[in-house]
Amino acid sequence: MTVSSRTKHWWKHAVVYQIYPASYCDSNGDGVGDLPGITSKLDYISSLGVNVIWICPMYDSPQVDMGYDIANYEDIYAPYGTLQDMETLIREAHSRGIRVMLDLVINHSSDKHAWFQESRTSKDSPKRDWYVWRPAKYSPSGERLPPNNWRCNFGGGSVWEWDEETGEYYLHLFAKEQPDLNWENPETRRAIYASAMEFWLERGVDGFRVDTVNMYSKPIDFPDAPITDPKAPFQPAGMLYCNGPRMHEFLDEMNAILSKYGAITVGELPNTPDMARVLRYVSAEAKQLDMVFQFDVVDVGFGRTHKYETTVKNYTLRNLKDAIGRTQGLIHGTDAWTTVFMENHDQARSVSRFTDDRPEYRVAGAKMLAVLQSCLSGTQFVYQGQEIGTVNAPKETYPLENYLDIDSYLFVKMVKDRCGDDKEQLDKAFTALQHLARDHSRIPIAWNGKAKFGGFSEQAEKAGKEVKQPWMKPHPMASEINVASQLDDPSSVLAFWRKTLKFRREHPDIFVYGDYRTLQLDDLETFTFVKEAQNGGAKAVVVLNFSTEAKSWTPPGAQELGLSDSADVKLVPVLSSYAGKDKGQVLAPFEGRVYLVSV
Ligand code: GLC
Ligand code: CA
Repeated sequence: MTVSSRTKHWWKHAVVYQIYPASYCDSNGDGVGDLPGITSKLDYISSLGVNVIWICPMYDSPQVDMGYDIANYEDIYAPYGTLQDMETLIREAHSRGIRVMLDLVINHSSDKHAWFQESRTSKDSPKRDWYVWRPAKYSPSGERLPPNNWRCNFGGGSVWEWDEETGEYYLHLFAKEQPDLNWENPETRRAIYASAMEFWLERGVDGFRVDTVNMYSKPIDFPDAPITDPKAPFQPAGMLYCNGPRMHEFLDEMNAILSKYGAITVGELPNTPDMARVLRYVSAEAKQLDMVFQFDVVDVGFGRTHKYETTVKNYTLRNLKDAIGRTQGLIHGTDAWTTVFMENHDQARSVSRFTDDRPEYRVAGAKMLAVLQSCLSGTQFVYQGQEIGTVNAPKETYPLENYLDIDSYLFVKMVKDRCGDDKEQLDKAFTALQHLARDHSRIPIAWNGKAKFGGFSEQAEKAGKEVKQPWMKPHPMASEINVASQLDDPSSVLAFWRKTLKFRREHPDIFVYGDYRTLQLDDLETFTFVKEAQNGGAKAVVVLNFSTEAKSWTPPGAQELGLSDSADVKLVPVLSSYAGKDKGQVLAPFEGRVYLVSV
């Protein structure tokens, strides 16, 4: 659908702050973040200029995949607190004008969920069909084989797990402890909606981040994936199990419920490079999802056969520009909406990936990325710790055994299975994880560099309680990068994020709702783009130096800005990530600037 003007909604110009409960704030000193800890930080969150919090799974779970393996949708993981703590958190957030989104994880459950426990008891169980069971295949020599060659999302194994008891395989696109629910069965779908959605909507939740939203409908004949990684026993199959034939029917059903509550949704949309396909989820007319997370930007630099089979910064600035261009382009001439994010709990820290995290550059890098994100159209997401410029844990001070994520250790296992104890290969794997692992974003937040464990359990410590080691080793740089030291420092990354978010709020037509166009695409060190309010409105030029060197920069001329040649164009500086006077045509290392165009 083509539209001439973009419809405004509160959630489009909102800023969403993502919280990872295990690692946000530990209120009772047991070393695990918890719900009362989150509640205690709501004033801090509000002071950032945030309108919505998205809380990663806090449900009852054995934590094989940090809560993305849910054993009971209607209860809380005990170390995080109780249902009552959750109700308090929702109420306290609302009283500050902050809305609450939960993570909706319904492609799969935990193998400890009562539904799966019942399903696996026998082939005649009334819940057998609630999960995806298939008989074995056999090779000509009689060897038992899984139903197809799909590779699981973690490590290099199969998506099928053999169940000795009943002599069949069950499907798990993620860990074997995360069996896929069978969405073909209408009774299963109704149970999912009631337990995972309505239960929480009734408790005042304002929306959901919808986990792996495009995987519910699978091709039921389960065809083999093409061989794209000949050295591997199982093949990447995302293009087959994502965006299956009944996806939109299922989303229609979900929407019938969500719309009754006015709930907002942002769906996670991997393996969908085709923009026309993305639009079917996110165009307003299609009424499927309000927003999606595309993977274009966060996948930059990933390996082709496996995301961690790559080297450090294996991309060019052109790749990043193209990825941003694609996600920004989604709203051009359409009624769709887009999102802005460079971090989440599945990604390493953006300062390390996209700038330079050495001490002399990391502050500048973090501020430049804040300029970039605050100037892009779409709903803005900020991940906990991003606002203080957290970097990846360094290789020298954070050994591989500190990495706890299943995605990391199954990757290392895959490398070992293939290469044995080959030191060079293992070191290569560690280097890749130091650069890209999900662990980096899951390290406990450093609230105070002077307190024990970076202040993660500061409140308990102050109350005189015994404080345990955090569940994951604290950040080795907690004394240098932490909230307390940045709170009152006007030159801090934190102060700058507040400033850029305010700046964005003050110019929504250009920065939240405007059209985006990249200039000087082939410049591999400077990123320049134009934002323009709709219907020929105000324009801004954003320029970002992605290099460690000072760079001279030629401002775009009238023609490049889409103005008539004779126009007397002036660029009025309105924001810079460097304090002090505008140094004209020389950009400092990792400087980001914004100019309003005046004619
Ligand atoms: C999503 C989550 C990720 C999780 C996976 C399986 O990608 O963001 O953390 O491991 O789904 O639920
Ligand atoms: Ca705790």
